[in-house]
Amino acid sequence: MTTTLNRELSEVVSSNRLNIDTIIHGDCLTILKTMPDTCIDFIFTSPPYADNRKKTYKGIPTNRYVEWFLPISNELRRVLKPEGSFVLNIKERSEGGERQTYVIELILAMKKQGWLWTEEYIWHKKNCYPGKWPNRFRDAWERCLHFTKKKKFKMFQDTVMVPMGDWAEKRLARLSERDKIRDESRVGSGFGKNVSNWLGKQYVYPTNVLHLGTECGNRGHSASFPVTLPTWFIKLFTEEDDLVLDPFMGAGTTALACIQLKRHYLGIEMMEKYCDLAQGSINKWNERINNNNNIRQLSF
Ligand SMILES: C[S@@+](CC[C@H](N)C(=O)[O-])C[C@H]1O[C@@H](n2cnc3c(N)ncnc32)[C@H](O)[C@@H]1O
Repeated sequence: MTTTLNRELSEVVSSNRLNIDTIIHGDCLTILKTMPDTCIDFIFTSPPYADNRKKTYKGIPTNRYVEWFLPISNELRRVLKPEGSFVLNIKERSEGGERQTYVIELILAMKKQGWLWTEEYIWHKKNCYPGKWPNRFRDAWERCLHFTKKKKFKMFQDTVMVPMGDWAEKRLARLSERDKIRDESRVGSGFGKNVSNWLGKQYVYPTNVLHLGTECGNRGHSASFPVTLPTWFIKLFTEEDDLVLDPFMGAGTTALACIQLKRHYLGIEMMEKYCDLAQGSINKWNERINNNNNIRQLSF
């Protein structure tokens, strides 16, 4: 790892109050309680999804999900820096023909805990496998809930800009007079736009819908997300050398994104076999980076 430590981080690390660039084996609530206040820049995680993976790791009953998560989110809030962000990848399951409401209840409970529910991003799973259910269609999206401690937080929007694409050629080729001035909303929403501002621009800001594949290199974990998911959010909410926490680390995907982006990571994982799996992937990833003269654009 060629990442360096900023002064703040090197103080907590050298005083043995925090381990970094490591996967800690244990229950996240217990481990979080040992960590110092406000030491983490960004938290990205995907917790166990209420009951449905009982066979692979301990599931949480749907009706106890909020009660189980709140002590954890309380600790996450304590360890997060004031200008930091927490992105929670989650999706409520369907039970007995009905979508459950524990994610909605969790959002309300976390707001009472002091979190600001700043935004909701949608991860659209571009290539999810087909299927048929009697009362719905295949599930092709998950929530990425963005929580912050303050209204003003660290965000680097330019790092996730996307090519303007076809829209520019078609729409900007036919600018009306109205397009050339600030066009106040005709429905009175208060939002105005000046379309001609985008003339000559190659990149624009993305929407809050991320169209990403589900492929995750078959790394031996039944619930891994693709490395592109944490990568996008880490770029948006952190700078080089920042410290990113994933309290439900699984196969180590968040750590791999951090290594590629020169961020520090800290992972917590309850199951030893997943800690080993994550550490194996991290070692391989680091080896490949070293063998490629530090080229970090690697894929599985
Ligand atoms: C949805 S998976 C995370 C997968 C991960 N995002 C990846 O890409 O591989 C949730 C993980 O949390 C772990 N876990 C469940 N309860 C935990 C707890 N209390 N503390 C730490 N890890 C826990 C599970 O063993 C599982 O690996």
